[in-house]
Amino acid sequence: MSRMLRLPGLVDVHVHLRVPGGEHKEDFATGTAAALAGGFTQVLAMPNTSPPLATRPALDLALAAARRDARCDVGLYAGASPFHLDALRELADDAVGLKIYLNDTFGPLRVEDLPTLLGCFRLWPRHRLIALHAEGQSAAVAIGLAAAFGRPVHICHVSRREEIELIAAAKARGLPVTCEVTPHHLFLTETDAARLGPLGDMRPRLATQADQDALWDHIGHTVDCIATDHAPHTLAEKASAAPPPGVPGLETALPLMLTAVAQGRLRLERLVALMAVNPRRIFGLPDQPDTWIEVEVDRPYVIAADGLHTKCGWTPFAGVEVTARVQRVVLRGQVAYDADAGVLAPPGSGQVIRSAGHG
Ligand code: DOR
Ligand code: ZN
Ligand code: ZN
Repeated sequence: MSRMLRLPGLVDVHVHLRVPGGEHKEDFATGTAAALAGGFTQVLAMPNTSPPLATRPALDLALAAARRDARCDVGLYAGASPFHLDALRELADDAVGLKIYLNDTFGPLRVEDLPTLLGCFRLWPRHRLIALHAEGQSAAVAIGLAAAFGRPVHICHVSRREEIELIAAAKARGLPVTCEVTPHHLFLTETDAARLGPLGDMRPRLATQADQDALWDHIGHTVDCIATDHAPHTLAEKASAAPPPGVPGLETALPLMLTAVAQGRLRLERLVALMAVNPRRIFGLPDQPDTWIEVEVDRPYVIAADGLHTKCGWTPFAGVEVTARVQRVVLRGQVAYDADAGVLAPPGSGQVIRSAGHG
């Protein structure tokens, strides 16, 4: 027999909504429709757009589009760029955090020299979080910066055993380090990557079974947040000679994670900590009054691409059996999503989030 669960509105601290410049992949209206359909009422959007959110004009463009089009609440990251270090201070008031890319991935944002990196840590206000794409030994760089500057860092999409073990060691020493893990790294491995081809390619790449096992071993303590890294690209782009890395995830994260709860892999309270309580605390995000989601559990079905709200229209989880679905999302007292009626929140009903500073 299926049952209904009531949970808080979920928070995803890592999504790519592609505005400005990538509106053929996703925009604020479609990306936040996908968020609501997935049970998320607050999402934080990444700055690797075109142009990147590394200058005041680019951030203003994205803020205006978010105010006009968002159906749930959206915060924007500023992006660190060696060409625009001087812009950081004037971005900080309207950004929920600073994103620093230490490794190669989609888009041109990259910080590869120590002077720029130090500049970021000196110029970005201390009460605003710094999040890093920091794979492999770059994770050690991020932790070293947290120690040297005595300020929090958040490590995005941790995917490998060595990284999560290093973060556990840093936390045991009391260093102010937090981290997120994606559903694709928790539920897919390099074996799936071989099967999926470009639809299973992202940065960090899908890893080994041992890496995935380590993430699950640390899900109850070292891992702070589940974040989707929702990174839509069109099927045509994925079929091209140079497919861009990234996979969508907003609409599949909660069904997958609740299925893991049903299988006894984590407890429901831990899921709520990872997907709502911790992300809100870490990024200092505002409470959303009269906001909750209703989820049907213990009813098996197979994930399919049709019916998705993301503009890209595909998922790497097609064919995977799960046991939970979002039935209703209530945002500030209004039904924003209903599984039968669809997305009801109009563009513009979401608010642009201003961080109060990290917790
Ligand atoms: O696979 C990825 N895609 N990893 C990233 O870090 C960026 C993202 C994107 O923007 O497509
Ligand atoms: Zn990344
Ligand atoms: Zn990302």
